[in-house]
Amino acid sequence: MASEARFMFIGLLFLILKAASAQQLGEYNVKAYGASGDGKTDSTKAFQDAWKESCATEGKPRIVIPEGKYLVGPLVFEGPCKGTQVIELRGELLASTDLSSYESNWIQFEYIDGLIITGNGKFNGQGAIAWPHNECPKRWSCKLLPTSLVFSNVTEATITGITSLDPKLFHMQVFRSHDMTFNSIWVTAPGDSPNTDGLHIAESSNIVINNAVIGTGDDCISIGPGNRNLSISGVTCGPGHGISVGSLGKTAGENDVVGLTVTNCTFVGTSNGLRIKSWQSSVSALKASGFHYEDIVMKDVYNPIIIDQEYCPYVSCPEKDPSLVKITDVTFKNIRGTSLAEEAIKLVCSASNPCEGVQLQDIHFEYTGDKPNANFKSTCVNAHGSSNDNVNPDSCF
Ligand SMILES: *[C@@H]1O[C@H](CO)[C@@H](O)[C@H](O)[C@H]1NC(C)=O
Ligand SMILES: *[C@@H]1O[C@H](CO)[C@@H](O)[C@H](O)[C@H]1NC(C)=O
Ligand SMILES: *[C@@H]1O[C@H](CO)[C@@H](O)[C@H](O)[C@H]1NC(C)=O
Repeated sequence: MASEARFMFIGLLFLILKAASAQQLGEYNVKAYGASGDGKTDSTKAFQDAWKESCATEGKPRIVIPEGKYLVGPLVFEGPCKGTQVIELRGELLASTDLSSYESNWIQFEYIDGLIITGNGKFNGQGAIAWPHNECPKRWSCKLLPTSLVFSNVTEATITGITSLDPKLFHMQVFRSHDMTFNSIWVTAPGDSPNTDGLHIAESSNIVINNAVIGTGDDCISIGPGNRNLSISGVTCGPGHGISVGSLGKTAGENDVVGLTVTNCTFVGTSNGLRIKSWQSSVSALKASGFHYEDIVMKDVYNPIIIDQEYCPYVSCPEKDPSLVKITDVTFKNIRGTSLAEEAIKLVCSASNPCEGVQLQDIHFEYTGDKPNANFKSTCVNAHGSSNDNVNPDSCF
């Protein structure tokens, strides 16, 4: 009896010491808050509780998500926090498949200055169940399904090594954020999953994406209005719709998109490569300028280089006025590979706002489509710029 009590005492002491040292280290393991890695038990509350304590801790507190599968409903990680928040994701998070449990997105980070996400874990949106409910490809105004990861009003953040699988809508969205870096991320969904953009960025600045493998059903990376100084390098895209600026001009009050470099990227079997698009009838008049694309390889891409200012997919647009988006200063340099379309370079700009300062330098495509007597060419409509002699198919300038 006495020895049993002694064991209990020692055990208790051990637990207290362990908890104290965890506090000292600022380490918050979701399991200590009741999360279960069985893939079935709802662990939402445990994650929110761990965040609450971590966010209130100074220095560099760390939330640890060990190996295992954690079912979590919508989560909001809200700041401002006292320290830089580190999230070490080793396990896999599974999104709830109950659509009625979502108000908007799955996992949202907001108002956080200083965020580090590491650890080779996975965010699994379990989207397949939701895709048949996506009406956006059919309707001009539609209710949006949840995006998997949203960063809004986040600054000084680094996201490294994570994987995003099968989101219900977009994989990741960056909004009103600045100074964020994404390093070595994996993004995967079937090529026919609707609106599963890899990374959508809007109203943000100084965002860097280095090394990513993105295969999904919509844009690999899409760049919306209000962005400044974005840099994308070492990204492999496919399947999907390529790296796209736009669609611009759909809603009122859109801000300019200024400064984008895309370098050392590879596209395999995507429907577009480098694309800039604006809606046929725009509500907003904005500028899109200072884009630099260099050292790009394409394999069997349908539209390798495309500016499309008459964008109007799936549905007929309400009106058919020329776009009010003004595109200037866009350089395509050292871009090579194979094109499935006869028009490997297609620059279709607005009749009321022609493109200016488009440069084509050292571009070489071969045709790999299936038309026997293909008219392999580049097309310019309302597009002004220049090219060097080293452009195939011949430049339209
Ligand atoms: C969120 O970001 C926007 C744009 O950067 C800024 O105007 C706004 O003040 C921010 N809101 C908060 C609560 O930080
Ligand atoms: C553009 O972004 C990069 C990376 O975040 C940063 O180093 C650079 O200072 C930024 N440039 C401007 C003009 O803000
Ligand atoms: C692309 O990567 C190569 C090899 O790392 C490097 O030498 C080159 O400068 C990069 N291109 C650009 C435009 O950054």
